[in-house]
Amino acid sequence: MEISLKGKVAIVTGASRGIGKAIALEMAKSGADLVVVSRKIADLEKTADEIKAMGRKAIAVAAHIGRLEDIATVVAKAKEAYGKIDILVNNAATNPTMDSALDATDRAWDSIMNLNLKGLFFLAQAVAKVMKEHGGGVIINVSSVAGVTPDILPIYSISKAGVNMATKVMAQQWAPYGIRANTLSPGQTKTQFSEALWGNPDIYKVIMDRTPLKRIADPQDMANAAVFLASDKSSFITGQNFLVDGGLSI
Ligand SMILES: NC(=O)c1ccc[n+]([C@@H]2O[C@H](COP(=O)([O-])OP(=O)(O)OC[C@H]3O[C@@H](n4cnc5c(N)ncnc54)[C@H](OP(=O)(O)O)[C@@H]3O)[C@@H](O)[C@H]2O)c1
Repeated sequence: MEISLKGKVAIVTGASRGIGKAIALEMAKSGADLVVVSRKIADLEKTADEIKAMGRKAIAVAAHIGRLEDIATVVAKAKEAYGKIDILVNNAATNPTMDSALDATDRAWDSIMNLNLKGLFFLAQAVAKVMKEHGGGVIINVSSVAGVTPDILPIYSISKAGVNMATKVMAQQWAPYGIRANTLSPGQTKTQFSEALWGNPDIYKVIMDRTPLKRIADPQDMANAAVFLASDKSSFITGQNFLVDGGLSI
């Protein structure tokens, strides 16, 4: 099956490293032009340069997705550069704490919910308004296996369960405008974000015991799924949660 994103414009948040970078590069390889977003511009420019080296267009926008004014900047710059937005990958997220539910603080709650859920929703809302003007588009919200099974990151898990519902709401309410929305839920993936988990031999063993396919995911596993969900090959799929987790959730 050949998947093409030729002529499409995609915004990918958290594209300076890890899963977001892999998704941005795979989308470019499939023909899309990109808006790559994260807070720190230096690594982001490297992603943009790799995309341009493939012959695609890319702009790098430094933005904190937890801030509404930064969200407005991202959408304005995308419109200015390309005149439209076809694909949004809401990938940036945070988890600054390993506290248990008994020890969790409201400060951690605010920081996690602000980016993982509020920023994700309001970026999607701003992009959906542009997609509506141009006949539709595709939203991919990156959640986690932790959004369907509680794990050792309690507030993060709650935020990701919220992401799963946000996707269903978007899919239902924006379908009349030609917008599809799906959730991509990674299992343990080899990135900086989760190194404290897969890098810990005891936790690594628990993950392996629970994962039928017996490996940690590579960011490329997520990129392959994201390109399918962004493409016309998934044109009748909306509101679904794709668990790319080697079977961990079962
Ligand atoms: N890795 C895993 O095992 C795993 C498992 C399940 C789900 N996930 C999910 O997959 C997604 C990507 O995770 P990852 O592992 O690739 O993480 P990562 O390697 O830590 O990358 C996170 C990216 O998000 C950006 N970012 C962080 N805070 C931001 C903010 N406030 N505004 C804009 N950008 C921000 C970072 O760049 P800057 O620092 O420059 O902002 C970076 O580009 C997340 O939604 C995560 O919850 C990951």
